[in-house]
Amino acid sequence: MTAHQLDRRPFLRAAGALIASAALPRLPAYAADTRVATPRQTAGPFYPTRFPDDVDNDLVVVAGRPRPAEGQVVHLAGQVLDRDGRPVRGARVEIWQCDIHGRYHHVDSSWQTQRSDDNFQGYGRTVTDDAGTYRFRTIRPVAYSGRTPHIHVAVAGTGIERLVTQMYLAGEPLNERDPVLSHIRDPRARQAVTVAFEAADTREPGALGARFDIVLG
Ligand SMILES: [Fe+2]
Repeated sequence: MTAHQLDRRPFLRAAGALIASAALPRLPAYAADTRVATPRQTAGPFYPTRFPDDVDNDLVVVAGRPRPAEGQVVHLAGQVLDRDGRPVRGARVEIWQCDIHGRYHHVDSSWQTQRSDDNFQGYGRTVTDDAGTYRFRTIRPVAYSGRTPHIHVAVAGTGIERLVTQMYLAGEPLNERDPVLSHIRDPRARQAVTVAFEAADTREPGALGARFDIVLG
């Protein structure tokens, strides 16, 4: 091998690498990620316009009320994660949903004609722990005026672009024609907001359990 040929080898390697990278098809963005980001959904018209005195993570019990909320109790929990699966600690997680009669609370809505279950908190918030975990005790959501059952969820915090979304019950027939869920076309993104609700009698007789992990994009 001549000195000239030796000198050319680094150049050829570099040129070869350039050609190889140019030949690779560009992958869709999600293919490089390990997790699907939780899709954004509208907050809708029912985010509280005034917060109740009791805003803890147990929506079934309102401080000072004599009875718990009507409805089937759900223990909802999950982790807030980044796209690499790392837990996000200290994130503020909020949920809001209608009561057993389909009525939202803490909003100026004289046009809501449903009865009100004043023993339902309607809104709650909590903060994720070191494992990124959050927990709520609430009721199984019900359908109302054209919407399939759902729970509204928002995540915010230092360094987090606020995420607002909605979560749905797996196997719920109304999901197929829900006007908000139908905006999510990507099956993997739909899957990311569709959650199995399963019996959780060991936690609480008659209750359901649901795990909803939230992946920040
Ligand atoms: Fe809603």
